[in-house]
Amino acid sequence: MKTQVAIIGAGPSGLLLGQLLHKAGIANIIIERQSADYVLGRIRAGVLEQGMVELLREAGVGARMDAEGLPHSGFELAFDGRREHIDLKALTGGKGVMIYGQTEVTRDLMAARQACGAVTVYQADNVRLHDLKSERPYLTFEKNGEIQRLDCDYIAGCDGYHGIARQSIPAQALKIFERVYPFGWLGVLADTPPVSDELVYARHERGFALCSMRSPTRTRYYVQVGAEEKVEDWSDERFWSELKSRLPADLAERLVTGPSIEKSIAPLRSFVVEPMQYGTLFLLGDAAHIVPPTGAKGLNLAASDVSTLYNILRKVYAEGRSDLLERYSQICLRRIWKAERFSWWMTSLLHRFPDSDAFSQRIQQTELEYYVSSEAGRTVLAENYVGLPYEPIEEDA
Ligand code: APR
Ligand code: PHB
Repeated sequence: MKTQVAIIGAGPSGLLLGQLLHKAGIANIIIERQSADYVLGRIRAGVLEQGMVELLREAGVGARMDAEGLPHSGFELAFDGRREHIDLKALTGGKGVMIYGQTEVTRDLMAARQACGAVTVYQADNVRLHDLKSERPYLTFEKNGEIQRLDCDYIAGCDGYHGIARQSIPAQALKIFERVYPFGWLGVLADTPPVSDELVYARHERGFALCSMRSPTRTRYYVQVGAEEKVEDWSDERFWSELKSRLPADLAERLVTGPSIEKSIAPLRSFVVEPMQYGTLFLLGDAAHIVPPTGAKGLNLAASDVSTLYNILRKVYAEGRSDLLERYSQICLRRIWKAERFSWWMTSLLHRFPDSDAFSQRIQQTELEYYVSSEAGRTVLAENYVGLPYEPIEEDA
């Protein structure tokens, strides 16, 4: 097989890049280890920044999001029995976010890819990357027990944190930055009406809690749990009772509970690899960086990486501008580090840290109180939450 861009991974990064490239007339093939159903079975976040919303529309997959997504112009911070509204729209000159699940984004992208006839090879084993520093890189993989070869011009590593792309770069060519947090998030998906019209991020002595949603009839709630906790130890009753104990009284009273449709624990981690390019290989999304979910930035960073690589490749193929390729990593990393900082900060502001002493707790409480009581503080929160602007690939672009 032969194509222009070989994409590893059919998560949101790989599928969105594939769709944009296809629309621009750049041939691509996606190689994915799992089945499409398996990919769609993963429950992930659901807050889209304006930049990602526009990119999905540009890719031609915005129709269902625009019809069914919930535009949100604010969110709430709850602490010390208080509920503080952060008015994103007023603080950012009209910006907001769209509530639309990653699973739905993925479903729309898969449907569009199928409709345009672009190739995705699912259930491909043992993907290997070859000759990355040459002008003729290629992939090999196994499908139905046979080894296949895919020749290409460039490889997009969109295969997530555990993928093969980053691991195929010699260790000495990469620098890794990492922080592992001493807790995780236990998440529950339920067919219940949301407790509030907006997302509620709650700081409590017992630990952080988040009230989120997927639709007017489907909710997603989280509570902070210890890093060693097992999901089997959390019955639905225990989860709802823990969540209620961390919410302000009026919300706890109003909370509608129900059987969980999905329940899982995710560890919290910050991770960045530099650079994000090695020869003809480019890393995108979770393959290159992880953020703790507190700022809802993971999926949105994947979208900004895709936008950057797509805009560069378009100029490479249309205008022969291969000089732009070496800018990819720097452009992406400037925005990634700002989102890493925000996600780390939101995490440190709202969670209970096992080793935190009385002084640290007062500082944390005061920091939250200070940010919400100052117009400047609220603006900092809001402009980061709605998403910092995408950087153009050229000054005049
Ligand atoms: N070969 C082929 N495919 C692979 C391999 C491999 N060796 N390893 C992983 N994959 C596939 C996975 O099965 C998965 O479908 O790559 C895909 C990676 O998808 P995601 O993990 O969803 O990563 P990405 O597309 O970058 O999505 C952005 O941001 O913070 C997150 O929740 C957010 O998952 C979302 C991510
Ligand atoms: C979610 O709805 O899953 C969600 C929302 C906001 C976050 C994290 C996760 O910050």
